[in-house]
Amino acid sequence: MLNNEKISAKTTQQTVRQTIQWASEQRDQFPIFSRHPEWSYLDSAATAQKPRRVIDFLQEFWCERNAPLHRGVYRLSAQVTQDYEDVREKVARFIHAGCGNEIVFCRGTTDAINLVAHSFVAPRLKKGDNILISAMEHHANFLPWQQLCQKTGAELRIIPLRKGLVEGAFRQHLQVGLDLESAEALLDDRTQFMALNHVSNVLGVINPVTDLCQLAKTKNIPVLLDGAQAIVHGSVDVKALGCDFYVFSGHKLYGPDGVGVLYGRSELLETMPPYQTGGDMIEFVSTAETTFAPPPQRFEAGTMPVSAVIGLGVAIDYFQSLPEERLLRHENTLLQLATENLRSTKSLQKVQIIGDETDLTRKVGVLSFVIEGVHPHDIGSILDSANVAVRAGHHCAQPLMADLKLTATARASFAVYNNERDVQQFCEGIEKVITMMI
Ligand SMILES: Cc1ncc(COP(=O)(O)O)c(C=O)c1O
Repeated sequence: MLNNEKISAKTTQQTVRQTIQWASEQRDQFPIFSRHPEWSYLDSAATAQKPRRVIDFLQEFWCERNAPLHRGVYRLSAQVTQDYEDVREKVARFIHAGCGNEIVFCRGTTDAINLVAHSFVAPRLKKGDNILISAMEHHANFLPWQQLCQKTGAELRIIPLRKGLVEGAFRQHLQVGLDLESAEALLDDRTQFMALNHVSNVLGVINPVTDLCQLAKTKNIPVLLDGAQAIVHGSVDVKALGCDFYVFSGHKLYGPDGVGVLYGRSELLETMPPYQTGGDMIEFVSTAETTFAPPPQRFEAGTMPVSAVIGLGVAIDYFQSLPEERLLRHENTLLQLATENLRSTKSLQKVQIIGDETDLTRKVGVLSFVIEGVHPHDIGSILDSANVAVRAGHHCAQPLMADLKLTATARASFAVYNNERDVQQFCEGIEKVITMMI
């Protein structure tokens, strides 16, 4: 279950040292860092670097095993088909779905959300109905619902933000969460669907999605959770969460790009028409009519990204080989180190954290911030000159930015391969920004 309670026990100096030692061993698994040891890559919330075993697998796949899926009668094709279907079962076990038939492969989170919007929600949505999302959604979980509502005359309702302040040594930092009381008030008997991020890509906060799913369930409202940021920060159990759909992308989970997962409860997938039509998703086609394959094949039209799907299976093996408690402690240690530096270093007092928490175990390793008087793009460029890669911009969350009265933030995000030196390089880079720009 994604929650950092597993690391809420007090972090001691010894556990910090052990975790950092462990992390340096993990970094060695990522070839990009032996080629570029000078890099502090702090943009894993955008896309994660790939471990050697995923890279080696892909190379070996192209050299030894490439063949078409589902169509060949020869051994190579049969083997690829078996491997592909095995990954479906693996993903089902990974997120505790009921069975492999509840797993649909698609291009990524964006594709999966669009599939649900067009195939599940659109046929059910009428003028006067409403869909509930939150003010901190990525555009991938905002635009499909906005466009659908505009097309049908339904209302897009938005759970507002609850804002607070966290004291630093020199200034206050901004705490941002969902206003749960408003969420309850926004649900009514015309609410057809709820779609929420599990973890915010801008703020890093872990949202109370289990409570919100429970609330929706009392009113029979189906829920989709956008797990793009959550999936890589601890185990996910879709049954325990109580959601109807869960979506994520392979590239943020140390896997290949071009592949993602839609989990949908069987009863719901069975009611859904195809999203796209074409090869491989049919039962029978004649000039007069067509019958479609059952889920999940019904939703996998055309040639699927076979190597990426099987590579995702390798990435899941890698991720599951990391002891969860240690991984969470490691990422949280880096978050704490960076946060404490920004909160309490005199020369960094112009920095304001956006999405701070008094209890940092309520966040994953994502740290958004602004510097008074400096555009985040300048922060990003100057950090780049110090070999620190962070994301700068609106993070595909313009409604959130507007709510916070910001146009952009800079964002550092931590993964298994980051270490204390990255945090140090990051903080020194920010000092450089301040010296150059203020
Ligand atoms: C919370 C969230 N949702 C959705 C997406 C979209 O993911 P993808 O571009 O892989 O489809 C992202 C990507 O950053 C994200 O952070």
